[in-house]
Parts: sequence; C-alpha cells; structure tokens
Amino acid sequence: MEKEILTMEEAAELFGVSVKTFIKLLKEEKVPARKIGREWRFSRKALIEWLSSGDSQAYSSSEGETKEFFNEVAPDWEEMRKNYYDESIKNKLMELDLLKKNMTIVDLGAGDGYISRAIAKSVKKVVAVDISSEMLKELKKKAREAGIKNIEAVESDGRDVPFENGNADMICTSMYLHHIDEPENAVAEMNRMLRPGGKVFLADFYEHSNRELKDKMHDVWPGFKPDSIKAWFEKNGFSDVKIENLSGDFQKSANSGHRPASIFVLTAVKL
Ligand SMILES: C[S@@+](CC[C@H](N)C(=O)[O-])C[C@H]1O[C@@H](n2cnc3c(N)ncnc32)[C@H](O)[C@@H]1O
Repeated sequence: MEKEILTMEEAAELFGVSVKTFIKLLKEEKVPARKIGREWRFSRKALIEWLSSGDSQAYSSSEGETKEFFNEVAPDWEEMRKNYYDESIKNKLMELDLLKKNMTIVDLGAGDGYISRAIAKSVKKVVAVDISSEMLKELKKKAREAGIKNIEAVESDGRDVPFENGNADMICTSMYLHHIDEPENAVAEMNRMLRPGGKVFLADFYEHSNRELKDKMHDVWPGFKPDSIKAWFEKNGFSDVKIENLSGDFQKSANSGHRPASIFVLTAVKL
C-alpha cells in the first residue's frame, strides 16, 4: 500500500523534481504541508489535489510567452518601462565612459532601443538583438525619427546570435537576463561574441519577492543574487566582475504595496 504521509524527499519524488526545486516551491507557493518539530511532512492526497487544482495561466514564464507579450506591448513599451525604471541605466552607461567612436556594440534584448538609441552616436555600430519583431520595429521607427543610421536590428532568441565570434567590442544589456531560461548560457554567448578585452555592461533586478512584477512583466527570474551572477561571469571567461547598486526612480514599481525592485549594474572584462 502507498504511504500517505511523506517526507520532503518522498514529496519531491512524487512531483518528479529535485529536493532543491521542491524547497524552492515551498518558499514560492502555498503547498499543503506541516512542520512537525524540525521535519516537514506532507499528505500524498493533499499534494495531488493541490497539483491538480493548479492553473497553467498563472504562470507566465516561458520564452515563447515572453515574445508574444513584448510583441503586444511594443508600441506602449516606453511608457510602461517608466513604471519600472527611469533613464538611470543608460545614464550610468554613458557616465562610465566606456564607449569609443570605433566600437561595435551588441545590445542584447534591445527592445525599442532604450540603450541602442542612447549610445548609437557615440560608437561606430550597434547590433540590436531581440526576440520580438514588434519591439525591433519600434526601435527602427524611433531610430529613424532621431536620424540614427548605425543600428542593425537582428531578430534572435539570444541563444545563438547570428554574430561572428569575437567581433564585438562591448555587450550592453538592460533588463534582458531575467527573461532567459538559462542565464548562464547567455553569459557564455556574450563571451563568444566579444573580443578579448571586450567589456560587458549589464543592468538587471536584484532578487526580489515582488511576484506581481515578475508575473506582469512575464519575467522568468525574479532578479538575481549578486554572488550567483558574479560566479556565472567568472566561470565563463570574464575577469574584473564588478556589481554596483544603481540609484534612480524605481518607485513606481512599488504599486500594490510592494517594495520597488532594486537594480544593479554589472561590468566585466573578457579574458
Ligand atoms: C524588459 S525589456 C528591456 C528592453 C530594453 N533593453 C530596455 O531596457 O528598455 C526585455 C526585452 O528582452 C527581449 N527578450 C526577452 N527574451 C529574449 C530572448 N530570449 N532573446 C532575445 N530577446 C529577448 C524582449 O523582447 C524585450 O524587448
């Protein structure tokens, strides 16, 4: 006869996931469970009922859905974006004074060109990569209106960007990584595109607990822990990995009583 009361390991096995994934689930969701003394115990029946009462539409986090979402919101993105972050990411990039007139820059997850359009006149060429054709359409329209002619828009899911090895002087990426299923692979792809000594400028959210923000924006990850992201860069051929807080107006994302999600800027150099 099947056991009705399960330990953590047995409950994870029932769901077919690792104990680590199961613990993450316990933290993120209201899973039926009791802590007895120091041990978690689960009812097999309650777990199965909980699983079958779920609703796939409550989850928003596959790349396909992200693409659909950004295609839909593309014309309104600039206004939407202002509810989450202001101009301080691109201002920070300009302040760091890393750009040179002869550089080729790849902007990953370029969107409507928040970064690409801000830097185009300071460099030779910007390759703006995005999964969403509608976002790239917005980027091209806005670039045209601003008289910018050196941005090449490339539609790609960021996994295997059609860009030659080692041809980029710098990768700039704002609020892209938290949309990627396997962020460490994205870091490896950045390394592939950069020349030795080339740099990365990356802005993203620190790990946050604002579930509403994550769901609304179709984010895969609720931001990142600085130590994890630093380790991904160091493991994938980068040195001088520096992470700093970005101060700016992120207050509007604090609607519904949530604290605003803080933003960091990472810079790194390809070995
Ligand atoms: C939050 S927006 C940021 C846009 C822009 N960088 C900015 O800061 O305003 C995220 C962008 O990443 C793009 N994106 C999401 N997943 C992607 C993927 N797998 N490959 C390429 N682009 C992706 C989306 O289409 C969207 O334009």
